[in-house]
Amino acid sequence: MPIIESVLNETRVFPPNKEFSEHANISNIAEYRALCMQAQEDYLGFWEKQAREHILWHKPFTRVLDEANPPFFKWFDDGELNISFNCLDRHLTTQPDKTAIIFESDDGQVIHSTYRDLHQRVCQFANALKSLNICKGNRVVIYMPMCIEAVVAMQACARIGAIHSVVFGGFSAKSLHERIKDAGAVAVITADEQVRGGRNNPLKATVDEAIARGGTESVKSVIIYKRTGANISIEATRDVWWHEIIQNENTVCEPEWVNAEHTLFTLYTSGSTGKPKGVQHSSAGYLLGTIISMHWVFDYKSTDIFWCTADIGWVTGHSYVTYGPLAVGATQIIFEGTPTYPDAGRFWEIIQKHKVTTFYTAPTAIRSLIKLGPDLPEKYDLSSLRLLGSVGEPINPEAWIWYYNKVGRAHCPIVDTWWQTETGSHMIAPLPGIVPLKPGSCTLPLPGIFAAIVDETGHDVETGEGGFLVIKRPFPSQVRTLWGNPERFKETYFPIEMGHGRYYLSGDSANCDQDGYFWIMGRIDDVLNVSGHRLGTMEIESALVAHPLVAEAAVVGKPHEIKGESIIAFVVMKDQCPQGTAAIQIVNELRNWVAKEIGPIAKPDEVRFGDNLPKTRSGKIMRRLLRTLAKGEEITQDTSTLENPAILDQLQQAIK
Ligand code: WT7
Repeated sequence: MPIIESVLNETRVFPPNKEFSEHANISNIAEYRALCMQAQEDYLGFWEKQAREHILWHKPFTRVLDEANPPFFKWFDDGELNISFNCLDRHLTTQPDKTAIIFESDDGQVIHSTYRDLHQRVCQFANALKSLNICKGNRVVIYMPMCIEAVVAMQACARIGAIHSVVFGGFSAKSLHERIKDAGAVAVITADEQVRGGRNNPLKATVDEAIARGGTESVKSVIIYKRTGANISIEATRDVWWHEIIQNENTVCEPEWVNAEHTLFTLYTSGSTGKPKGVQHSSAGYLLGTIISMHWVFDYKSTDIFWCTADIGWVTGHSYVTYGPLAVGATQIIFEGTPTYPDAGRFWEIIQKHKVTTFYTAPTAIRSLIKLGPDLPEKYDLSSLRLLGSVGEPINPEAWIWYYNKVGRAHCPIVDTWWQTETGSHMIAPLPGIVPLKPGSCTLPLPGIFAAIVDETGHDVETGEGGFLVIKRPFPSQVRTLWGNPERFKETYFPIEMGHGRYYLSGDSANCDQDGYFWIMGRIDDVLNVSGHRLGTMEIESALVAHPLVAEAAVVGKPHEIKGESIIAFVVMKDQCPQGTAAIQIVNELRNWVAKEIGPIAKPDEVRFGDNLPKTRSGKIMRRLLRTLAKGEEITQDTSTLENPAILDQLQQAIK
């Protein structure tokens, strides 16, 4: 991969900017070392102090970590709290009139919501949920556009102790159906439509289609937020309008006090097998991770205007839109639209207009904006910015340097944050006031995070040697289990050969240099990272073979200039290989089919046909070879175990 090669040759170092350091929350290396030392020597004391300092407890905890049943760790487990209380009520006495959310719609309209206003909205909607008989422990699926109401919906669930499961608005009816069913949701909260890039896309109609697929009898209510007023069908016994159900509800709602380990949410993500897994997070531990990273990594200041561009459908939108920024009392931007509408200057325009200080986005967005307007940021006043962030995939040094110079005007540190849906909050990231940056490296683990690189037996590798990225000790914000599947949780993340089943196995490979800096190399499993979105190759393969004309399919990733990785599908048809215009037609049909089965983000970029796939004698598809073929490179690997070597020539021709 060119990205990796260039990353390993990277030697530039960017020391912290003096002015930034002087005002940083952690401003000298001694302070950072002291935190790391404390975590090293008194692990429980370290986390206890953090949890008492940053969380408002209804009933304080007396136990820090329960390790009786690894890997099912429990944190602060006899404490009680409410997450929405911690995000909203705590600010009512100190800063009720501070703007919590600045919402900007696709067409540029702006709505401000203060902490008082947001609190009232959340309470009122929470009461409406209660009126629909939704209670503590019930699962609620949220399938909404980016809007204030989406945050209100999540916070209201947290207020009454219901477990939300947000499904990204770009997922198909089928994907939504699987998630509703697996969660056993009692309600779905949606909108009539979503508006992005000047286009309206249906949401409610997709919910109808998902529920109609059956096995979803658990769903008693569908709540619809009116965004566009489009014509939608209403099922009288099930569907209710958001604005109608809140009408007579009180704007005060006593929070439901829950145990620290109470499940706050599940979020489905892709793994190496076909079915997405429901990553389950706790209340207190999760919240703590989001709060300390707001302080340490984003160097949060009360005067900040914070903007994380992630959709609430991803964990980044959970931790750094719905929870972290509100818990620390920030003012943040929520943007409904896309970075390129009405033009490629939209992000820069929003930063200028709202005087954003902290901007957090994905390398994919940066790369596509470089392509569309390398000098565009110069046309805007971006002087409000003081900190930039990157998340979701490795950032190539070229994009890093552009981001640093053109957007950050060479004075904003870039925090490259490595973490995952499963870790809940940042794990490896620079503390921007003190850690010198190296483009392409997420730098050093945060205090209390014992990240390491090990071989397949769980032993530390030599410095500079790549290996599996693990976290050796449990940490508060980590995944608690997979919804309904504790066995898969154990096998996937805590295999017995890794520290006797006590190391958290991230699924990423990484390298560590002589300064202790981490360089993420990519996934070790069959998971692709396309534009910062995680997709299982098997998920896409199952979608393809579900097509009536397809006999077999294998999907691999190929490095892509903007998306990081692109999706290449090798397909064997039930009938003979299509040729010419027939082939073009079938390619289109299959691409659209996958979009319909999973969602547009999973559409293969290329589809190649063959009479067969390269397999070992035991029938295992040799993806390694397919990856080489996809890149258009010569095969130099050992092909002696291949059952059908002739197929390589055919597929090679197909690539050309
Ligand atoms: C995977 C997790 C983290 C929230 C958004 C994605 C990759 C994430 C980085 C980074 C290199 C990164 C990893 C990880 N990844 N951040 N800063 N540098 N790679 O969450 O969908 O759970 O994906 O994204 O491969 O395992 P996710």
